[in-house]
Amino acid sequence: MQHLRHCQGLVRVSLTATQRTYLRKAAAPAVTACVGSLSVRWQSNGHHGGQSGQAHAGLSPRWRHLLAGLAAGTGAVLAYAVYNNQAERAASSIEPVTQSSFPIYSQEEVTKHKTLDEGVWVTYKGNVYDITSFIAMHPGGDKILLAAGGALEPFWSLYAVHGQDHVLEILSEYKVGELSPEDRKKQLKLADSSDPYSTDPERHPALRINSLKPFNAEPPSALLSDSYITPNALFFKRNHLPVPRVDPKTYKLEIEGLPGRPVSLTLTDLKTRYPKHTITATLQCAGNRRSEMNTVKQVKGLNWGIAAISNATWSGARLRDVLLDAGYGPEVAAKARHVQFEGLDCDVTGTSYGASIPLVKAVSEVGDVLLAYEMNGEDIPPDHGYPVRVVVPGTVGARNVKWLGKIVISEEESKSHWQQNDYKGFSPSTDWDTVDFKSAPAIQELPIQSAITQPAEGATVDRSMEEVTVKGYAWSGGGREVVRVDVTTDGGKTWHIAQLQNSEKGQEPAPSPPPGQAWAWKLWEVTVPLPAETQELEIVCKAVDNSYNTQPDTVAPIWNLRGVLSNAWHRVKVNINEDNEEEE
Ligand code: MTE
Repeated sequence: MQHLRHCQGLVRVSLTATQRTYLRKAAAPAVTACVGSLSVRWQSNGHHGGQSGQAHAGLSPRWRHLLAGLAAGTGAVLAYAVYNNQAERAASSIEPVTQSSFPIYSQEEVTKHKTLDEGVWVTYKGNVYDITSFIAMHPGGDKILLAAGGALEPFWSLYAVHGQDHVLEILSEYKVGELSPEDRKKQLKLADSSDPYSTDPERHPALRINSLKPFNAEPPSALLSDSYITPNALFFKRNHLPVPRVDPKTYKLEIEGLPGRPVSLTLTDLKTRYPKHTITATLQCAGNRRSEMNTVKQVKGLNWGIAAISNATWSGARLRDVLLDAGYGPEVAAKARHVQFEGLDCDVTGTSYGASIPLVKAVSEVGDVLLAYEMNGEDIPPDHGYPVRVVVPGTVGARNVKWLGKIVISEEESKSHWQQNDYKGFSPSTDWDTVDFKSAPAIQELPIQSAITQPAEGATVDRSMEEVTVKGYAWSGGGREVVRVDVTTDGGKTWHIAQLQNSEKGQEPAPSPPPGQAWAWKLWEVTVPLPAETQELEIVCKAVDNSYNTQPDTVAPIWNLRGVLSNAWHRVKVNINEDNEEEE
């Protein structure tokens, strides 16, 4: 095949039995052609990029997506490669080679192997790996070249995925030696001071941690409905990267894409030159309630429960005011369509977190998009974007960019991975082989949502109480107001209408927001009788917004491979305890 004809062998690679099977099953057609002999020659004649492009064109969409996501690190590639052939690997019986059979290499020797011509070597935990063939087999896997000739640890420590056993398992197949003890000691010393997460802030111990590095956590759901405004310490935290520490004195916000020179604003400028505007708005992660999708079929992503959602009061300058002041006008409006945001958090390649929103939302008088510097009356905490984050009310959490460094007005959406190749919805029948991220729009406004926060799944209620009080939250995207929450305990034969609350308990209800500006959730509560003759009770809730959107009744029809937009009726099973005395 074409690819074979190009193979002008510079790197000779012997494949294990498992690797050969794997190639046959998962690699691009061009690569498959190379299988069958015990060794494969890979083109490496200084046109690596070209070769990469060729193979890339033959790859299935799942490979393309994965490789596009390489901002998520080299381990993602390894993780995925293993994911595909795990079963085969389990069946194969590769004898572990005893440590003594490996040669010892100095760091100097490892450093010589930085290119495909010389071979690409890396070290991990004192072992030396020749990953030349891995890179050749995985076009796009070339980001691993950042670590070529050195240690993987500083790169992998950015992403939780790499510590996983299956990633280490595939890496072990590339082991060629061990690092000299002296050089290993030097590495360890360096590693102590180079954990990119070492400056992450302290977090509240009540948070339920989904991933430590980067930090992702949600509050216990019972606490979520205890207060209308979520305390900062308990507000869910969703970070893709280490928390950047930004000096407020030197902080600058750059604005590009408007007539004239780019504008640069200090924190003081934002606080003094524009009116301070305050809104109460709920943020929800696109992956909230993803764990329920996992019960239908495994999805890729953090296993969020029902609390990747929180509500806060935000203050800052209106983005609209800042843009108008910076030169936004009809001539810009005639061409531009999007407002891109870049965070100051970045990965090892220097790529920042980024996202964009439609320009119309950003400049709308009723859009309420804020460059927020306060959260619940305090400086925005480090985890939530200190000193400035964008708050785009009614819009998925992912577009509410934290540690905001740059704004760009443009004709195009953000090119960021999180705008282009993540946070999009697909059909339940779309899988990683068929997904085309270009075919779906980036999630902006979120659909109607509600969930039960109390009682908790598996809780016991006492029969003698004769009734149970059910509490929860409800919210809809795009400023649509929640107008009703229905609760059933008999499988939907009868529905109880919950009481809605739009302020702290015991306080006067807040006035209704103007149409289209209902940014905050409603908490709700209803007390329902315990049905007779049942010991297990399923409590179900669903909400309705002022466009009469309501939630789908089950998860399966809305299942999608990334587990986003999970908003089916929420179901909680509790036990009814018939015997009071046992409760004492
Ligand atoms: N902004 C930056 N710069 N970096 C990030 O990792 N995560 C996004 C968004 N903004 C993120 C970001 C996502 S996916 C979500 S859901 C929200 O921030 C979470 O905001 P929170 O941590 O304040 O709850």
